[in-house]
Amino acid sequence: MTEPAMTPPPGCPAHAGATPLYGPRFQTDPGQLYQELRRTHGPVAPVELAGGVPAWLVIGYRELQLMTGQTKLFGRDSTRWNQWPNIPADWPLKPMMAPVPSILYAEGAEHQRRKAAVTDALAGVDQYELKQHCEEVADRLIDEFAGKGEAELVADYAHRLPLLVLCRLFGLDEDEAPVLIGGLVAMLDGGPDAQAGAQRLLDVMLGLVHRKRAEPGPDVTSRLLGHQAGLTDEEVMRDLRVILIAGHQPCAYWISNALRLMLTDDRFAASLSGGRRSVGQALSEALWEDTPTQIFAGRWATRDTQLGGQRIAAGDLLLLGLAGANTDPSVRQADGTPAEGNRAHLSYSYGPHSCPFPAQETAEVIAATAIEVLLDRLPDLRLAVAEHALVWRPSAWVRALMALPVAFTPGYLAG
Ligand code: HEM
Repeated sequence: MTEPAMTPPPGCPAHAGATPLYGPRFQTDPGQLYQELRRTHGPVAPVELAGGVPAWLVIGYRELQLMTGQTKLFGRDSTRWNQWPNIPADWPLKPMMAPVPSILYAEGAEHQRRKAAVTDALAGVDQYELKQHCEEVADRLIDEFAGKGEAELVADYAHRLPLLVLCRLFGLDEDEAPVLIGGLVAMLDGGPDAQAGAQRLLDVMLGLVHRKRAEPGPDVTSRLLGHQAGLTDEEVMRDLRVILIAGHQPCAYWISNALRLMLTDDRFAASLSGGRRSVGQALSEALWEDTPTQIFAGRWATRDTQLGGQRIAAGDLLLLGLAGANTDPSVRQADGTPAEGNRAHLSYSYGPHSCPFPAQETAEVIAATAIEVLLDRLPDLRLAVAEHALVWRPSAWVRALMALPVAFTPGYLAG
């Protein structure tokens, strides 16, 4: 968001000192910004979204666990938001908050039903086959630029690989994947083709669900359709869409953020010239320091309550400050780093709505394989620009590079 700061919303004294959740500092030094927010407001900070819309940003590690763990007090259904009467139809963040009947916004027994189906469908993914398929896709993508001696890894690699792998997990044919991917990318870009893109995405999904209902196969779609939760075609489509979007973006950002770390930090230099030992460390460090989903919307208070010393009114929006909670001094050592091997970051969130465990495992195989194959194929991979020339997306919500230009000795094609 790049809008100018707005005046505090009227009638909302708690938000008089609210920090705008946009502006260049989220792009340049979010870590420092979270520390300042913590010093000024404590673990729950009043913030202001584009257009002067008030919200709470939960950046305390314990408070984030408390909030995401108490689903009866902090609900997922955004229809209870007390700001809807003030939200204009064309508000840029509306697609992020508007309720849709999917696993994301479901609550209670309905959420458990859908979560069980999604978790079981993803748990059915054979991890060995997944790794093999990731290697094939990685090789194919690298073949496209290996001979050139240069590449832009965000667009040419990190964004394409997870999508192609997810399409295969869904059971899409080779020729359908590009149509679905084109539709999704157009929709997420939000340009003039966005509506048409969303429609293309829906059409491919609809065709897939109908085909798999008639002829099930060893894929996520068929397992969702056949699950004892008894999901309808419409419900399966909705949740497949969530899996696709929730899976693709963070995976893509994670791969490029970990690659950036390996290409810029001397501690990882050894692994670039051969070994693979540090790929896991780079991936873990990227989740602690540059987590793909920095802020996630959200939870809505079901009644008046308190959290982190703030008075929260019924219907208030609370944002999950995942990156902020990861920098909470209570989970860091005295030198500010997390202890070696500590995986207790909140990058996958926490509580009943957290990223399903088999989705986390799938994401880890995709991301690790993507980096391992790249380093194997292009062992002298290096940044093609100075580190300070790398630009982050101007967004408080995600930590994502605009581009990652690299150079290397032109290599051979795989196989
Ligand atoms: C194959 C890759 C992935 C898939 C299929 C996937 C799938 C999902 C699904 C279905 C949900 C909704 C869960 C619910 O509402 O009950 C979800 C939530 C979430 N996922 Fe993932 N995900 C993937 C990768 C990732 C990665 C790499 C990250 C970040 C490092 C991530 C972070 C999150 C977060 C923060 C939430 C929101 C949880 C909340 O509301 O508390 N996911 N994911």
